Amino acid sequence: MNDTTSAPEPRTNHNGFPPDAFSRLDESPDSLFYARDRFVSHLDSLALSTVRRIIGRLVVEDSPTILDLMAGWDSHLPETMHPSRTVGLGLNPNELAANQRLTEWVLHDLNMDPSLPFPSDTFDVVLNTVSVDYLVKPREVFAEVNRVLKPRGLFLVIFSNRMFPEKATRIWKNSTEEERLRLVLDFFRTTPGFLEPRHFESSGKPRPSDDKYAHLGIPSDPVFAVYAEKEGSSSGRRERPAPEQLEEEPPAACATPAERVAGEWRTCPHCGSGLKKWRFPVSPFSNWDIEFVYICFNDSCPYLLRGWAVMRAQGNSGTSYRYAYEPVRKTPLVLPIHTLHDLKNGIVEES
Ligand SMILES: C[S@@+](CC[C@H](N)C(=O)[O-])C[C@H]1O[C@@H](n2cnc3c(N)ncnc32)[C@H](O)[C@@H]1O
Repeated sequence: MNDTTSAPEPRTNHNGFPPDAFSRLDESPDSLFYARDRFVSHLDSLALSTVRRIIGRLVVEDSPTILDLMAGWDSHLPETMHPSRTVGLGLNPNELAANQRLTEWVLHDLNMDPSLPFPSDTFDVVLNTVSVDYLVKPREVFAEVNRVLKPRGLFLVIFSNRMFPEKATRIWKNSTEEERLRLVLDFFRTTPGFLEPRHFESSGKPRPSDDKYAHLGIPSDPVFAVYAEKEGSSSGRRERPAPEQLEEEPPAACATPAERVAGEWRTCPHCGSGLKKWRFPVSPFSNWDIEFVYICFNDSCPYLLRGWAVMRAQGNSGTSYRYAYEPVRKTPLVLPIHTLHDLKNGIVEES
């Protein structure tokens, strides 16, 4: 049988991604885009303190050698950390020169050349903060990171949901936060030489009140961390913490079980805050026949904080919920919100 049709266009490239997955709106050399100094914070102050805490917890070496990959003017190292050497690799010389934590730095475009200009087995830790979204050859870069890490060295990739859209890859921009997490896990899992990656997420926390976007009522920038060690022997050094150990202490407002009993139903069972009396909006279309419910308006309530991730996992990004109690039927309720401002104008009585 003769087949005269031409071969179909490949639907995926050699890495199993669509051919344009790592294309970008701005395909000009990255060095041009990053020639402009950007002495800005890429995340709000709460998210930055989370980044610092994650790095502080996961870097367990006493005087580590660190590579800050895609570095800017701040490497987010805690002040208590005293590396023996911190190398910054990035594209903006002024930002790298201003970075107080770097002992040396190098200009190198990873999208032009994903190989790293360092010998094998050099670093205890490689950090990549809010930058993985710009890599057009991530698997090649991950393989190089593995090469330059010492055995049982740490590769820590931290990201959020803010980006320079013209430079972020198409696959990153078109993905949900869940999918981005899976993508970075996949970069690790498909790079030979890494142990199984672990991940941590901090999201839905109240935005700091002095933040420039606080008036929008949106939560603090989410922080995702994916990390894995290079295979090999850890030669007796401390274990790195598991993801659940990276979470901070529960909010100070948490009530003890005894306090919860004393507060009865007017206390949030999740955080111990007093519930506020809230009037249901009057509407002819409402199916509710109740006039008041009592709602937890603590913006740090763990129930609310967890809710953003729970709802996102169900396909409802940008939604969480507050705990509420309906006193006539004596039943707890869940009231959805999109911003921390939602529902607050219905408060009729403080707790
Ligand atoms: C959003 S900034 C993050 C800077 C820093 N990691 C931080 O956490 O503040 C992105 C950084 O990636 C670097 N970068 C972007 N494209 C790069 C490339 N192709 N090769 C090397 N570095 C790059 C830029 O120099 C820029 O500093």
